[in-house]
Amino acid sequence: MQGPESNRVKTPIQMNDLPKHIAIIMDGNGRWARQRGLDRTLGHREGVKALKPIVKEAARLGIEVLTVYAFSTENWRRPSREVDVLMSLLVEFLASETPELKDEGVQIRTIGDIGRLPAAAQQSLAWAKDETRDQTRMILNLALNYGSRNEILRAVNRWHTEAPEDTELTEEALSCYLDTGGLPDPDLLIRSSGEFRVSNFLLWQLAYSEIYITEALWPDFGTEDLHEAIRDYQTRHRRFGGLG
Ligand code: IPE
Ligand code: IPE
Ligand code: MG
Repeated sequence: MQGPESNRVKTPIQMNDLPKHIAIIMDGNGRWARQRGLDRTLGHREGVKALKPIVKEAARLGIEVLTVYAFSTENWRRPSREVDVLMSLLVEFLASETPELKDEGVQIRTIGDIGRLPAAAQQSLAWAKDETRDQTRMILNLALNYGSRNEILRAVNRWHTEAPEDTELTEEALSCYLDTGGLPDPDLLIRSSGEFRVSNFLLWQLAYSEIYITEALWPDFGTEDLHEAIRDYQTRHRRFGGLG
């Protein structure tokens, strides 16, 4: 970048005030492709490429959990050809990136009803999770066939079959039964491509998350955008309903 913008000194990220858990809605692949006169699926390919540096940078910074929305329960409504490409890209991503992510200390997990994904995707996920199960630097949660309403229903139904009779469901119990059970709620939610909506993502867990929306389309979202989101987060005053 030329001109005064490039010379402006940016506030450094405060390493003692990092969000523990960052959640990202990776949106805008289709628009990125359309702007270039390309097929939407090429936007998805670029979107997958954009993910790796973000994961590595989040781990390097010391983020404990990174949850990325990769495929929603509603995304099945897209043309089957697009869905097939997304599933193949997932398999490709896992095959090519799992070894390096493992070396970076990243543990791969999923949230969402992955039992409904194609068999090849399920097999790759099982392999990637197993390969990285002992890594402790950062958890990378891939949200796949994920919808928050679906997650809450599955949690309630499972609780219902497992809980002793006459017990009442508590906030703590429901939190444990969600796919994110045991993980802290996201401190920061990032959405790319300028859309101001949550699109059925982590409805329960986002209760007190700080929200950062950027116009950048996901394939253009780079580590500097991640830094900017974290810097912005560090200017927020979180009150959690109190007077703080
Ligand atoms: C996000 O990009 C990726 C998925 C939802 C799988 P989109 O495909 O939603 O891109 P836009 O919103 O059409 O630009
Ligand atoms: C949300 O994006 C889902 C993912 C990023 C995987 P969408 O593009 O599906 O959301 P809407 O349809 O614009 O709300
Ligand atoms: Mg979209």
